[in-house]
Amino acid sequence: MQKVMVLNGPNLGRLGSREPDIYGAMDFNALVAAVQDKASTLHLTVEVRQTDSESELIGWIHEAVDSAANVILNPAAFTHYSYSLRDAAVQITKAGLQLIEVHLSNPHTREEFRHTSVISSVATGVIAGFGIDSYLLALAQLAK
Ligand code: DQA
Repeated sequence: MQKVMVLNGPNLGRLGSREPDIYGAMDFNALVAAVQDKASTLHLTVEVRQTDSESELIGWIHEAVDSAANVILNPAAFTHYSYSLRDAAVQITKAGLQLIEVHLSNPHTREEFRHTSVISSVATGVIAGFGIDSYLLALAQLAK
């Protein structure tokens, strides 16, 4: 079975209580359950992780490259400024693997600083603005 790592950056562990008007009422455990459920219907092996640490997230990307896993990445605020995360992310596509950048919200409808993504230019594709469905659409794409 194809392996997919679903990696989440800072503050996404606070889903449910964090700005529910923007990110919805679903908490992180519910997101994990929905992703695992969809992955099993698509016959994908999935691993879902979240960290507030840039260093840990970069280490997980190295792990994905070394284990030939495609990646669904919600870099959260790192999206907008982390060149070290970008330099890790480019290794995914350079290795012939797929990287799908996802966002719950549509950053382009929000504050100006969210309009820049330093990740998008090294991603295979980007899905944003559909809440949890952004992740499920990404899984469906990887299952093709
Ligand atoms: C986010 C959008 C980012 O701008 C923000 O910093 C997040 C979440 C999203 O999923 O909509 O933490 O990546």
